[in-house]
Parts: sequence; structure tokens; C-alpha cells
Amino acid sequence: MTDQARDPEARPRVLSGIQPTADSFHLGNYLGALRNWVAMQRDYETFYTIVDLHAITVPQDPEVLAANTRVSFAQTLAAGVDPERSAVFVQSHVPEHTQLAWVLMCLTGFGEASRMTQFKDKAGKSGTANASVGLFTYPILQAADILLYQATKVPVGADQRQHLELTRDLAGRFNSRFGDTFVVPEPHVLADAAKVLDLSDPTAKMSKSTPAGCVFLLEEPKRITKKIKSAVTDSEAVIRYDPQRQPGVANLLEILSALQGEAIDDLVEGYSGVLYGTLKGDVAEAVVAFAEPFAQRTREYLEDPAELDRLMAVGAQKARAVAADTLQTVYRRIGFVPAG
Ligand code: TYM
Repeated sequence: MTDQARDPEARPRVLSGIQPTADSFHLGNYLGALRNWVAMQRDYETFYTIVDLHAITVPQDPEVLAANTRVSFAQTLAAGVDPERSAVFVQSHVPEHTQLAWVLMCLTGFGEASRMTQFKDKAGKSGTANASVGLFTYPILQAADILLYQATKVPVGADQRQHLELTRDLAGRFNSRFGDTFVVPEPHVLADAAKVLDLSDPTAKMSKSTPAGCVFLLEEPKRITKKIKSAVTDSEAVIRYDPQRQPGVANLLEILSALQGEAIDDLVEGYSGVLYGTLKGDVAEAVVAFAEPFAQRTREYLEDPAELDRLMAVGAQKARAVAADTLQTVYRRIGFVPAG
């Protein structure tokens, strides 16, 4: 905890982030994370960030990055994140993220950072030797994002667990070397839809890098429907929830359950003796029923760029107040001489 001890009555804090690396969020982002961002606003003091610094760990076209950052911000609001209740901000607007990241990098072992599996995955075909050092240190910047806000919980999909482990290790290490400074955060992974699977390959997670099996929320409803109706299933021809043997069907059931708030067992009961086509049709309908108004709200935010800029500035201001306080404590504990 920082020196300015928090009011014990204050709500615990939450932080999460999303990369502005596509022109639309996908269904996995919404069901695995954003949906929970919205829900957590009720009981927590919430900080949500569009992580543009993380985005440049792989090459980005400057104009596309700027456009994607705006559309990501707009979608976060369209999903139901309320800029009055939450601090919604663009990561590069809060310089403390990079400042704390440097301190944490100096506390991270090279071997420890090398164990992060996403580095190898994201380096892709060109291999780790050609990847940027920024991509290598990416999880440490993520740790800084979280620790700056003294977040207790971090709502993320299951793929972020390893990065959260590193964050917890770094918080603990700093605290034991320099005195109690950081809250040690916990991942908050939803039990259902923590890992939405690729529709055309249900052994992989849904990801923007494989667009054929990925439902983009701002995509035309017709295309959404087509992708869902051609989802890969199996030849069992029975609708059961068996993620091992029938991952494609289980994925469809999870999506439907998450969107409709209906228990999977109840759904399965209702589908007894029903063909896969009916289930796919229902899933498509539920996704479009969410995506259409979501896209409309996103467009409305984008049509008023001055208001979007204002909201970004408000969010950055709220975030900086907290981030600057934490960083000041960190700098002092480390032994940096104050600037005066
Ligand atoms: P990113 O931008 O890849 O994804 C944003 C969020 O969406 C979740 N997600 C999924 N959930 C379920 N099923 C899927 N198929 C799926 N695909 C993505 C992710 O788990 C994530 O919660 N490193 C982070 C961004 C980040 C961050 C942070 C997150 C930077 N700093 C601090 C939390 C806290 C990332 O690349 O997410």
C-alpha cells in the first residue's frame, strides 16, 4: 500500500486492459473479459485501459493504430463501461506505466521472463530472434499496469493467467525488498467462457489472428451468422456438454449460456433430440442480438470525436492521480533522490 493509506471503506480496486490491435473486439474479448469489466463496476473502483504501448510490441501502422485505439475506446464504452464510474483511459496517456515498468524490469530475471509462453506464440513464424525486446518484456509492462493501481482483482480470460502469476511474483519481490508497497493482485477469470474457442478449429482459442473462426463484434450480422452456422462440430449428433470429446458443441453451449444467462445443463436439457443446426441458429441469433446494438452504440461514440477526446482526457486524469501516487512511493523506496 502506498503511504497515503486508503480509506478502509473505499471499494477495492480492479484494473484490466485490452490491446487496440484490431478494428473490432471479438466475442472472446467480450465474453472472457469485457462482460466482467462491466459487472465489476458495481462493487469495485475500476480502471480500464486501452493498452497502446503493448500494441507496438509488434509492428503497427501509425494511422491504423490511432484509429484502432479510438474504436477500442468507443467499444469499451459501448459494452457498458461507464466513464463516470470507471477510469477508462489510453495507456500512453499515463506515463507512469512505462516508468514503473522499467523499475520492475530491473527486478525480473532473464530466465523468468523467458518462461512466458505468449512471447514464443506471439513471435510467430519469424521466430523469437526477430521479435522485439518490447515483446519480450511485454508481461512486465502488464505487471506495471496492474500494480500502479493497487488492484486487488484483474478480470481477464484464462490466457492471461501466466502474466498474472508474474505480476504477483514481482509485487511480492518488491514488497519484501523495499517494504510493503503493492497489493498482490488475483486474476478474476469467469467460470464460463474463460476461453472462447475458434469456430473453425475448436482446439484453439478464438483470436483475431485467425479471422475465419473469429466473430468480430463490429462485423456485418450476415457474416457473423455465416461463421457461426459453419462452426466445426463433430459427428456424434448429440448435444451434450463434453468439452473434451465435443469441444465445438461445448463452445457453442458456453457462448449461448454466457449471452443468455442460462445454465448449460438447462440448455442441454432443452436441446435433447435436436440437431446441431438448431443450436447454431440459436447461437447466431443471440450473438447478433448483442452485436447489432453494440455496433450501433460504438458508431455513435465514434461520430462525436470531440466527446471521445474529452472522455479520454477525463479517464487519463483519474488514472494519473492514482498512478502518480504509487510511483512516487516506489521511487522513494528504491532510493531515487526526489527532483526537488
Ligand atoms: P488481449 O487484448 O489479447 O485481450 C483482452 C482480453 O480478452 C481476453 N480474451 C479472451 N477471453 C476468452 N476467450 C478468448 N478466446 C479470448 N481472447 C482474448 C483476454 O484474456 C483479455 O482479458 N495482455 C493483455 C492486455 C493487458 C492487460 C493488462 C490485461 C495489458 N495490460 C493489465 C489485464 C491487466 C492482452 O493481450 O489482452
